[in-house]
Amino acid sequence: MNRRMLLGALAAATIAAAPLPLAAQETVKIGLIIPLTGPFTTTGKQLEAAARLYMQQNGTTVAGKKIELIVRDDAGRAENTARIATELLTNDKVHFLAGFGLTPLAMATAPIATNAKVPMVVMMAGTSIITERSPYIVRTSFTLGQSAVIMADWAAQNKIKTVVTLVTDYAPGHDAETSFVGQFEKQGGKVTEKIRVPIQNPDFAPFLQRVLDAKPDALYVFTPSGVGAILMKQFVERGLDKSGIRLIGPGDITDDDVLNGFGDAAIGVVTAHNYSTDHPSAKNKEYVAAFRKANNFRPNFASVGAYDGMHLIYEALKKTQGKTDGDALLTAMKGHKWESPRGPISIDPETRDIVQTIYMRKVEKKNGELYNVEFASFPDVKDPVKAAKK
Ligand code: PHB
Repeated sequence: MNRRMLLGALAAATIAAAPLPLAAQETVKIGLIIPLTGPFTTTGKQLEAAARLYMQQNGTTVAGKKIELIVRDDAGRAENTARIATELLTNDKVHFLAGFGLTPLAMATAPIATNAKVPMVVMMAGTSIITERSPYIVRTSFTLGQSAVIMADWAAQNKIKTVVTLVTDYAPGHDAETSFVGQFEKQGGKVTEKIRVPIQNPDFAPFLQRVLDAKPDALYVFTPSGVGAILMKQFVERGLDKSGIRLIGPGDITDDDVLNGFGDAAIGVVTAHNYSTDHPSAKNKEYVAAFRKANNFRPNFASVGAYDGMHLIYEALKKTQGKTDGDALLTAMKGHKWESPRGPISIDPETRDIVQTIYMRKVEKKNGELYNVEFASFPDVKDPVKAAKK
């Protein structure tokens, strides 16, 4: 063997003996499970657009690891969400589960996250109990109770004495109803009727007729994002907008994504919520401009849940120096505080739930577009349902 051949053989041996680049292990995978078909498609689109915007703005390398986002559509059906979560864990070996456009989808996945010891970032669903279903869950969205108690206080202080509640008949609707009624009655208000409407193919018209006949000072409504448009259309068709009965509720009913389509009938609707496209901070103005540039729709409250969820994942990885151990990531996430486009937020280290400002807003027209314009703010609101259990 001549010298050249010997060197060549040595080089080949060195290459063979050197550790492989192990590209697969250097990638941190985030499985984003969201409704991209079916009645909650708008929510899924908001969540995906915001997650992608975050990655575009902050790069795809964190603590030396490459970040890969795997997006899967569950069509808003819990059996799909659970199956996809299992597939993502077994086949794709994801390090994070994220998304969850509706409460039942998060509930179905909770035990899967617990078994796998993988962080599960809830970016949209809003029922209080969700975070108690797994020690691996953190929430970057909201709870319905957070806005319901603020709304109840405002109603009691603003000459609203009688209210009918109308909520979609599933867990977040029940939370909204319980929190609103409890707080409003504590302040001396009276809830004359509590109506629940099915989540599948909702028809509000017969219920709205009942409300029109009962003539309460206000109608408090919760419907999940994507359904509010049907409610608003029927509210106007039945003439409730001209009846003197005020429409109030969480911001899900005046969702920024579809608000413009409601027309001027929506002007004056008062809601309590955690995010408005119109939030006047520099951070939000920058966010809205970037989001609008990348998409042909404006960001709503679902979007900030995903944007902030991605931020939490990135920051947790920085704190663990790229380690993907689930327990270490949860420790890194607990107590984390930052400025979101919605304002200052943090993850409660005890409950892993979000702590945030709740704003009172009124629909107004600005430059030809409808916005939820904030007029009062209540900082550091924790989930009141959990607080009451203590
Ligand atoms: C939920 O299912 O938890 C949910 C969905 C949409 C909303 C609010 C809550 O707008």
